[in-house]
Amino acid sequence: MTTVAHVVGARPNFMKAAPVIRALNALPVRQLLIHTGQHYDASMSDAFFRQLSLPTPDINLGVGSGSHAQQTADVMIGFEKFIGANRPDLLVVYGDVNSTMAASLVAAKAGIPIAHVEAGLRSFDRTMPEEINRIVTDCLATLFFTPSADADANLKREGIDAARIHLVGNVMIDTLIKCLPMANANAILAPLGIGERQPYILVTLHRPSSVDDPALLAALIEVLNDLAKEYPVIFPVHPRTQAKLAAATRAATLHLLDPVGYLEFVGLEKNARLVITDSGGVQEETTYLGVPCLTVRDNTERPVTISDGTNRLAGRDPHTLRRLAKESLEGPVPKKRIPALWDGHASERIAAVIAKELR
Ligand code: UD1
Ligand code: UDP
Repeated sequence: MTTVAHVVGARPNFMKAAPVIRALNALPVRQLLIHTGQHYDASMSDAFFRQLSLPTPDINLGVGSGSHAQQTADVMIGFEKFIGANRPDLLVVYGDVNSTMAASLVAAKAGIPIAHVEAGLRSFDRTMPEEINRIVTDCLATLFFTPSADADANLKREGIDAARIHLVGNVMIDTLIKCLPMANANAILAPLGIGERQPYILVTLHRPSSVDDPALLAALIEVLNDLAKEYPVIFPVHPRTQAKLAAATRAATLHLLDPVGYLEFVGLEKNARLVITDSGGVQEETTYLGVPCLTVRDNTERPVTISDGTNRLAGRDPHTLRRLAKESLEGPVPKKRIPALWDGHASERIAAVIAKELR
């Protein structure tokens, strides 16, 4: 029987793989799920398998944390061993994390075709580790599933054959649409004494570019402290940030939480008055939900969240962030337009293409 293998490793991979695996269940294929173990805390991994009904992985490579080289190399070694014994006919990889690029390198050299879900996104900022991962993965992939037309244009400019590029829409939004009816933040809000209808600000920060420089992180926390005088600020803290936050001063007025489950997080997002983030997925989800979003970055690989959606780049200057946040909190909620094909059916379109490909 034809075998399709999926590699996941970090939090944002889980929301992307879940609907694709479900859609491929309709095909006569055997599916294998490889968890690299890049993320391993219960709150960064297990919680999503339960909430998103992901199958138990066939293997967890247990690579854990490390330098880029170490993590990439460990995924490569573990994945090469795995496919030596379980050679798939197609590898499906997701997004732009180290696990994605590492598995792609191994599969390409083993002559296994690679489908890249969320292909073609470009921030044009090579200081971002994810940009390197995107470029390398797209050099190696053989099938390209894109979330938006800008990604198609990027791939064509890089010389990818247009016949290999499939504009299918956004699988992250497939998961969002499916889970929205179950999304509920009461379990988070009630212990904080925040009413469901009370306006609050939701924050996530985890990019090295925002949290690794202690002076910048401290300045960003100062801005959040300032905003917290008027609105509760809820900040589920990514483990990378947790490690740095102890050093940043006076975060006491913020509601700092451990990372929360997906249904809880989407519950928080949908009722937030403002989201401040540097996450890729959160930019997309707030666009779908029509919730104002300020992205603490100088660029984004997801330009439709700005052109069509509710996202604005705040850059990394704390003064600009403070000004834009106040503007957003005082002004009307911007009108939203949901980007084309962000309709909950991207994974079905992916399954249709894969079915043809494997015939
Ligand atoms: C990774 C991805 C990033 C993605 C993010 C999603 C790369 C290069 N980066 O960043 O693109 O946006 O995941 O969340 O692939 N840690 C824990 N427990 C865990 C996982 C991580 O404590 O379960 C801590 C460790 O100290 C680790 C640090 O977080 O060193 C960073 O983890 P890592 O996977 O290297 O990168 P992320 O910042 O999570
Ligand atoms: N998310 C979550 N709990 C949290 C923070 C985020 O479930 O505490 C979800 C969020 O809804 C989105 C995804 O995690 O679906 C985004 O992942 P992350 O920000 O880690 O990575 P990125 O998208 O930046 O690569």
